[in-house]
Amino acid sequence: MNLKIISSTDRPNSNALRVSGYVESLYREKGVDVEVISLEDFPLEEVIGGRYGKKLPAIEKFREPIINADGLIFVIPEYNGSFPGILKVFIDYLPFPEAFEKMPMAFIGEANGVFGGLRSVEQFQMIANYRNALQFPERVFIPNVKDEFIDGEGLRDSFKQKLLESQIENFVKFVESARQKEMDQLTINS
Ligand SMILES: Cc1cc2nc3c(=O)[nH]c(=O)nc-3n(C[C@H](O)[C@H](O)[C@H](O)COP(=O)(O)O)c2cc1C
Repeated sequence: MNLKIISSTDRPNSNALRVSGYVESLYREKGVDVEVISLEDFPLEEVIGGRYGKKLPAIEKFREPIINADGLIFVIPEYNGSFPGILKVFIDYLPFPEAFEKMPMAFIGEANGVFGGLRSVEQFQMIANYRNALQFPERVFIPNVKDEFIDGEGLRDSFKQKLLESQIENFVKFVESARQKEMDQLTINS
């Protein structure tokens, strides 16, 4: 199983990237092949001026491991009551309509506010829904992220930490089950 964690902002030294690194370490402890991809590395210069529908090698290279993953975990901060603009730009340069079709996805929100990225995750889920992704229902929200999250240790609040560990454990099963269903479908169709 090959999972990718999308740190969903281009802000340098982001909390999203810190949380993503920690989540990656928990998946690795379970023996999962997982990697963080930061939207800081999205080749933005390639799309200036609106290059929709054009052949863009740097964009293709960036998105290829994401499109070919078995599942995606989005770590999304809240910017102005929504998700960061770079995340929408990234989505707008994915192949349409096939990218994200039946792609298992899990969501972690983070913010300095008390809602912990609930709005950013829910707004992003509307897009995931439109693109027919398989959305894992256990979501995790981290409010007051600067104080709540400790590098290498996780969340101060033991209840929230349990929610995060539960999401990780059960998302692995969710992805396995989605892959099995896909293989069964291929067998039926062959
Ligand atoms: C452009 C911008 C807009 C923000 N808007 C909100 C907001 O609407 N609600 C909120 O709770 N925090 C907001 N914040 C604070 C961030 O959610 C908080 O600092 C978060 O940890 C930033 O995530 P990051 O470190 O992953 O970039 C905003 C931060 C930035 C940079």
